[in-house]
Amino acid sequence: MPSINSNQACHIRWMIRRDLPFVLNIENASFEFPWTEDEFIRCLRQRDCIGMVAERNEDVAGFMIYELHKNRIHILSFAVHPDYRRQGIGRSMVDKLVSKLAYQRRNRIVLEVRETNLDAQLFFRQLGFRATSVLRSFYEDTPEDAFLMQYRAAAETATNEESRRAA
Ligand SMILES: CC(C)(COP(=O)(O)OP(=O)(O)OC[C@H]1O[C@@H](n2cnc3c(N)ncnc32)[C@H](O)[C@@H]1OP(=O)(O)O)[C@@H](O)C(=O)NCCC(=O)NCCS
Repeated sequence: MPSINSNQACHIRWMIRRDLPFVLNIENASFEFPWTEDEFIRCLRQRDCIGMVAERNEDVAGFMIYELHKNRIHILSFAVHPDYRRQGIGRSMVDKLVSKLAYQRRNRIVLEVRETNLDAQLFFRQLGFRATSVLRSFYEDTPEDAFLMQYRAAAETATNEESRRAA
C-alpha cells in the first residue's frame, strides 16, 4: 500500500463557526449539488461529527467533515479550493485522518464517491484507498451510483500502536 506523506506546509485545525463562510465558498466552488449552511450546521451538531480545515497563508484552503464510528472513520464531505488544488493540501488532510486511525484504534477510513467524480477517485486511489463496492442509485439529486472507497490501516501501524500501548 502506498505510504501517505506530505511535505507541503499547511496548518490543519478543528473547524470553528467563523470558518463557515469560507467553507461554503469552497463547497460551492467544488460541487454541483453543494450542501447548504444549514446542512453543515446540522451535521456538525451531531455527536461524533467533526470538522477540520486546512489553512495555507492564513486562508482556509480546504475542509473535511467526518464522522467517528467504533471501527471506522467516515468522510462525509471534503474539498480543497480550486486555487489550492494539486499542492498537497488534500493529501495532508487525509494524512491527518490516517494518523487518527493508529491513535484511536479505528482501522479504516471509508467514503462514497460519485461514479462521475474521476478526480476524487484518482486522488483517493493514489493515497491507498480502494473501491470496495458499488452503491446503486445512492444519491437523491441524480440517478448516479457511488463507489464505496476504503483505506485500511497497515498491519505494521496497528502492531506499533499495540506495542506503544503495552509499553
Ligand atoms: C479531491 C481533492 C480534495 C484533492 O485535493 P488536492 O489538494 O488537489 O490533492 P493533492 O494535491 O493532495 O493530491 C495528491 C495526489 O492525488 C492525485 N490527484 C489529486 N487530484 C488529482 C486529479 N484531479 N487527477 C488525478 N490525480 C489527482 C495526484 O497523484 C496528487 O499528487 P500530485 O499532485 O503530486 O500528482 C480536490 O480535487 C477537490 O476538492 N475536488 C473537488 C471536491 C471533491 O471531489 N471532493 C471529494 C468528494 S468524495
